[in-house]
Amino acid sequence: MTWLITGGAGYIGAHVARAMTGAGERVVALDDLSAGVPARLPEGVPLVRGSSLDGELVRRVCAEHGVTGVVHLAARKQAAESVARPTWYYRENVGGLATLLDAVADAGIERFVFSSSAAVYGDLDVDVITEDSPCAPANPYGETKLAGEWLVRAAGRAHGIATVCLRYFNVAGAAVPELADTGVFNIVPMVFDRLTRDEAPRIFGDDYPTPDGTCVRDYIHVADLAEAHLAAARGLSRGDVTGDLTVNIGRGEGVSVRELITVIGEVTGDTRAPLVEDRRPGDAPRAVASSALAAERLGWTARRSVHDMIDSAWQGWRLHRGG
Ligand SMILES: NC(=O)c1ccc[n+]([C@@H]2O[C@H](COP(=O)([O-])OP(=O)(O)OC[C@H]3O[C@@H](n4cnc5c(N)ncnc54)[C@H](O)[C@@H]3O)[C@@H](O)[C@H]2O)c1
Repeated sequence: MTWLITGGAGYIGAHVARAMTGAGERVVALDDLSAGVPARLPEGVPLVRGSSLDGELVRRVCAEHGVTGVVHLAARKQAAESVARPTWYYRENVGGLATLLDAVADAGIERFVFSSSAAVYGDLDVDVITEDSPCAPANPYGETKLAGEWLVRAAGRAHGIATVCLRYFNVAGAAVPELADTGVFNIVPMVFDRLTRDEAPRIFGDDYPTPDGTCVRDYIHVADLAEAHLAAARGLSRGDVTGDLTVNIGRGEGVSVRELITVIGEVTGDTRAPLVEDRRPGDAPRAVASSALAAERLGWTARRSVHDMIDSAWQGWRLHRGG
């Protein structure tokens, strides 16, 4: 078995490559390096530089490396950017996926894992989000993930490809500091960025209907998330997972922004009081996963704590940013 990991030089993709090779799986990475860093890949993992939108290249890589399964992570992923450039997001994340799935079907590959996102649910007003909760994405990025899931399932049915869609909740942390997320798009690096500039962290709204008034999210350590991909790949290889499966990947535990900032203060030693500012449009009060289906169908549950996430992310931040 050889797994093709698209976006393998990215933050999550490199963790998936590390988890899979660490467990003895053979992998090859395809990355256009628009956001990827080759040095993130484990030693011995071949990297093909190019786009997953290039069907001919994908066919050639699959033939040359004897690819038998695909983990597709390559995508554009910034919600705000997707609002400004919706056609580009659809072209890259949905059009590109159609091209990739054609190439996968032509190569006779029968296993496919797709990076989806909790963004497919939008602003749901429920205590715990199950996979049956209604999907109503709040921006074009989330729409491309939902349309991507539909496309993956339809192509799977048409071409006999068993598929798993993983809906990630809020990803944070690093398995080793070298693999940390270097972008400043998510809350943890955003708070680190403020502290490094000697500024107080910001809280957008503390009048939400939650226990401490700040938004509640489900944070997942990227090393746990990588293990979920391994579990999905193994489930597909063993034939335990057939047809299509869509599962939430979270810890099933809500953490408020204020609680998260408190843990960041404990880890960094910088306990200055956060500034409370106005709510941002589009922030749901609460988004917490039910992780029961992933446990049942993939035999996977998250093992690492929020403290582990922050601690590892901070080590990575200091390595890359010198904070
Ligand atoms: N980071 C999160 O919190 C989060 C949450 C939910 C879902 N996701 C999804 O997980 C996936 C990976 O996200 P990430 O955080 O590692 O992002 P990332 O930007 O670090 O990784 C994406 C990788 O894909 C590469 N890439 C992009 N378009 C490509 C293309 N057309 N062909 C080949 N390579 C391409 C980039 O160079 C990069 O290395 C994405 O699909 C994203 O939507 C991420």
